[in-house]
Amino acid sequence: MRKPIIAGNWKMYKTMDEAVAFVEALAGKLKESDKTETVICPPAPYLAALVEKSKGLPIRIAAQTMHEETEGAFTGEISPAMLKSIGVELVVLGHSERRQYYNETDDSVNRKVKSAFEHQLTPIVCVGETLEQRENNATSAIVSEQVKKAFAGVSETDAASAIVAYEPVWAIGTGRTATAEDANKVCGQIREVLAELYSDSVAQAIRIQYGGSVKPGNIEELLSMSDIDGALVGGASLDPESFAALAEAG
Ligand code: G3P
Repeated sequence: MRKPIIAGNWKMYKTMDEAVAFVEALAGKLKESDKTETVICPPAPYLAALVEKSKGLPIRIAAQTMHEETEGAFTGEISPAMLKSIGVELVVLGHSERRQYYNETDDSVNRKVKSAFEHQLTPIVCVGETLEQRENNATSAIVSEQVKKAFAGVSETDAASAIVAYEPVWAIGTGRTATAEDANKVCGQIREVLAELYSDSVAQAIRIQYGGSVKPGNIEELLSMSDIDGALVGGASLDPESFAALAEAG
């Protein structure tokens, strides 16, 4: 059985004090139920502090992005080795906002995915179609292509530990959620692509999250679907109360 993984992507929100207060509040609300795995993706300046703060708690810390190189003259960038050196365990790669505003492509996402594995970081690989692509019935083709390219050259052993996040771009921050059935259908297609690339057992091991206007009111239905193994949450992850409700779902 795949354990659901609920990750809160804070994007560019919160001050340091608010970030620390959030973890304290969340720690007080999380039960030891162990039903889901809980991940927070804070802005980069708070990563080290939150890694320390979450020690001994059932909370893991992820970066929101990273550079593909280990080190170099790349002003403003953060390398996988740096993330590893402060105890970060996971990294979100290829989020649609990175693709849209920072020129990330399927190729650069692929290089980052391989680099993450080289540095023993677990990638959360984001894929998803735009509204226009959905209206042109291109969802399956676009998402399949994104998955194939992201995993090109990734070994079977590494792939089995990856996490994929299906986030339809039109559902992000809009209040429009894909229906649980639609989201499950695309997550199932992603699993089929992974089975073609690797094997059934690898595809069955990989956790596939849904992301896009997930909130306490729709999480249970999403998690009840056969191919949805968690959620990547934006807005509803900013409040400890609602994020705790998501983390306790399932
Ligand atoms: O990465 C999470 C995300 O893009 C979804 O955001 O605000 O729709 O939950 P939101």
